[in-house]
Amino acid sequence: MNSPRHFISTKEMTRDEIEAILNLALRFEDVARGVTSSNLLAGKVLCTLFYEPSTRTRLSFESAMVRLGGQVLAVADALRTSSAWKGESIADTVRTIQNYADVIAMRSPVAGSAAEAARYAQIPILNAGDGANEHPTQALLDLLTIKREAGRIDGSTIALVGDHAHARPINSLLFALSNYKARVMLVSPKQLRAQPDVLEFARARGLDAEETEDLPGALKNADVVYIFRIQKERFSDPAEYEAVKGTYQLTRKLLVEANHRLVILHPMPRVDELPEDVDSLPGAAYFRQSFNGVLIRMALLSLVLGRVQLRAYLSSEHA
Ligand code: NCD
Repeated sequence: MNSPRHFISTKEMTRDEIEAILNLALRFEDVARGVTSSNLLAGKVLCTLFYEPSTRTRLSFESAMVRLGGQVLAVADALRTSSAWKGESIADTVRTIQNYADVIAMRSPVAGSAAEAARYAQIPILNAGDGANEHPTQALLDLLTIKREAGRIDGSTIALVGDHAHARPINSLLFALSNYKARVMLVSPKQLRAQPDVLEFARARGLDAEETEDLPGALKNADVVYIFRIQKERFSDPAEYEAVKGTYQLTRKLLVEANHRLVILHPMPRVDELPEDVDSLPGAAYFRQSFNGVLIRMALLSLVLGRVQLRAYLSSEHA
């Protein structure tokens, strides 16, 4: 298999591809921590083109690039500070940026915009989140975190809690998890259930998923609980947001009563669904999760820039 060019979606990813990327990512631990240095991406330039706010995704892409010896051109508020403000199209923007950079990590409020950019770009496009559609690099770092924290993906029960209708990491994660023998409990208010086409597609590929509104019930059997904020900015009617706001809170009491060492994940940022007194529980893994983002983005940048071949990391054994 050749190294991928763009990375837009986890929809069609195979288990072997995912495992190879996770294996590769783990090789970067020391470089990501600054213990050793690397020149793997020396001479290469990453442009982070972000039309939506971000802390972790943009900075971990940039950290990954810089620590691997590459350089970064950052457009952190592209709606206002790039020519998008003057009405320039995505197509023209990426055809311009490819004169200055070798790869683009792009985030946009519009679903499908990364795929659109990829149609025009001669350089790799990495989807860093497109509207309520996908966030594929997040899904890979989530899987890496589950593996590291829970010790396995197959055989584990994973409760996904929150706004399944709008939280794009969920879509990418459900597609990716359809390659594994995990049990997924989708906990959300009725109004915020997973997008039907996403769930249908993932189930058709083998995902074992059940929908419920009962958080304490789901926690009882879970090995991992992954909570998402309700995505206020994606509601067209503020009254609809008000109606579901604060529905679930993963309190310390609830977690301790769940009676075992749950791994607790959150893509961050958190609002009110995950109180700060949870942070001292041993299973609170969300800051380690954001570190794993650097590893995954190092792996993806090395692959799409052709400095590493994915086939070197494919293994026949299924971990
Ligand atoms: C997520 C996103 O932007 O989709 N954040 C992130 O990348 N870590 C989730 C969110 O904003 O709630």
